[in-house]
Amino acid sequence: MKDVLLECRQLGKDYHIGTRTVHAVREISLQLQRGSFTAIMGPSGSGKTTLLNLIGTLDMPTHGKLFFEGIAVDSLNDDQLADFRRENIGFVFQLFNLIPSLNVMENVMIPLLPFRKELSFDLEDRARELIAMVGLGERFDHLPGELSGGEQQRVALARAMLNHPKLILADEPTGNLDTGMGKEVMSSLKKLKEEQGTTILLVTHDVHIASYAGEILNIQDGILAS
Ligand SMILES: Nc1ncnc2c1ncn2[C@@H]1O[C@H](COP(=O)(O)OP(=O)(O)OP(=O)(O)O)[C@@H](O)[C@H]1O
Ligand SMILES: [Mg+2]
Repeated sequence: MKDVLLECRQLGKDYHIGTRTVHAVREISLQLQRGSFTAIMGPSGSGKTTLLNLIGTLDMPTHGKLFFEGIAVDSLNDDQLADFRRENIGFVFQLFNLIPSLNVMENVMIPLLPFRKELSFDLEDRARELIAMVGLGERFDHLPGELSGGEQQRVALARAMLNHPKLILADEPTGNLDTGMGKEVMSSLKKLKEEQGTTILLVTHDVHIASYAGEILNIQDGILAS
């Protein structure tokens, strides 16, 4: 049985710079099955980040449609879209984007602190559970500056998983890490995926990192190469 979490139908994004048009993403059609782990590879400037941002609804397509659990995302207004993102998607970036003055616990909890009363789970328990899962159970009160790059990215993974997202979008999450730390981050990601059943879409330049995925998509000049 196919269980499609997300579908792109001829998704495209053009940028206009003066009189020039850049077709960053052109007519990309794909489906992500629930629980799948997909890597996107391709040269610099091929449209990987643009595609990820379209799928994450951080950016709107100029062509085509995006469906999440069968719902056309473009039918949502801005408020609904913000709720949609918070409820369904976790983001991980190349730069870890942790707040230097907050400790590990605080960094993980901060995106949902304003919504604490509306949550169906205990925020602190959930944060603790995730921090332990990424192997930082002894570091709850450390500041980001007291952690290695790999450890900081694992904190960012825990933060991205906080709201039980159905989809994790990761844009070169190991791009700033050496091989050893990259492996640690990937095994944490894999563990979270297996224990939480999350679907993952990850951009990487590194074939070893891509090999953690069940499927690899290649993108060239904004087009999916088969
Ligand atoms: N905001 C923007 N305005 C204009 N052009 C843009 C914008 N964002 C991206 N582009 C262009 O769209 C194309 C795709 O960019 P994108 O950032 O998606 O590439 P990428 O595959 O993520 O590259 P990299 O591997 O270097 O991160 C590039 O030609 C880029 O210059
Ligand atoms: Mg990019």
